[in-house]
Amino acid sequence: MIRIPHIIAHRGASIEAPENTLAAIRVTSARGARWIECDVTLTSDGACVLFHDDTLERTSTGHGVIGHHDLASLRALDAGSWFSDIYIGERIPTLEDAFDTLAALEMGVNLEIKPSGCDPVALCKEVAKRIGQRRDVPVLLSSFDDGAVAVIPDLLPGIPCGWLVEEIPVNWQERYQALNARALHCDHKSLTRAQAEEVVAAGVPLVCYTINDPVRAAELFDWGVTSVITDDPARMIAAIPRPPA
Ligand code: G3P
Ligand code: MG
Repeated sequence: MIRIPHIIAHRGASIEAPENTLAAIRVTSARGARWIECDVTLTSDGACVLFHDDTLERTSTGHGVIGHHDLASLRALDAGSWFSDIYIGERIPTLEDAFDTLAALEMGVNLEIKPSGCDPVALCKEVAKRIGQRRDVPVLLSSFDDGAVAVIPDLLPGIPCGWLVEEIPVNWQERYQALNARALHCDHKSLTRAQAEEVVAAGVPLVCYTINDPVRAAELFDWGVTSVITDDPARMIAAIPRPPA
């Protein structure tokens, strides 16, 4: 299992740069964090791009469902101006571009498989084609889609995949094992100390999203949480520069 760092920047350093862009990766690096979390989905012509929402309006100049657009039309959109004039000209990145930037900055990634209406297994297959042979970027996959989590070990043996949930279910161990997952990712808001301790005692890496308050992050680390995903890596790194002992 790869070493998961204690701080991961959510969609990149999304508090100060447009989410899921190359700029958000670069700002993360400049702030001293080594990993980002980002969301990958499929275009209508089978390209892999970083994007969170099902639809284009919130974080780009486009309109409609992302999966209804081909790569060329998506690359013509602006994905930075919604955030700030500083980022006018930022594009929706391909997965390959994101990996090239991460490799150049010696960074790693928690890549969330985000079907956004497309076929989850088709998305996993396209991701596998693009990253299966790369060894220059440490990768932890994850998904809320159980079908995606279950298929990853076959498509990408050797690349771990976390099971993403909003709340940890009572029978989590049984489902976790059935999915052959390698980490458990959950919303910190619903996590209890008892749940965290149970997961940690089972030897399962526990990743929580999305925490921007360092006091809450310190509490989670005290419970044994492996890693926190934050919009504000600069603030988190300043408060908690090293992983808890
Ligand atoms: O991977 C953690 C987190 O990103 C999951 O939620 O909606 O921000 O992709 P979301
Ligand atoms: Mg995500």
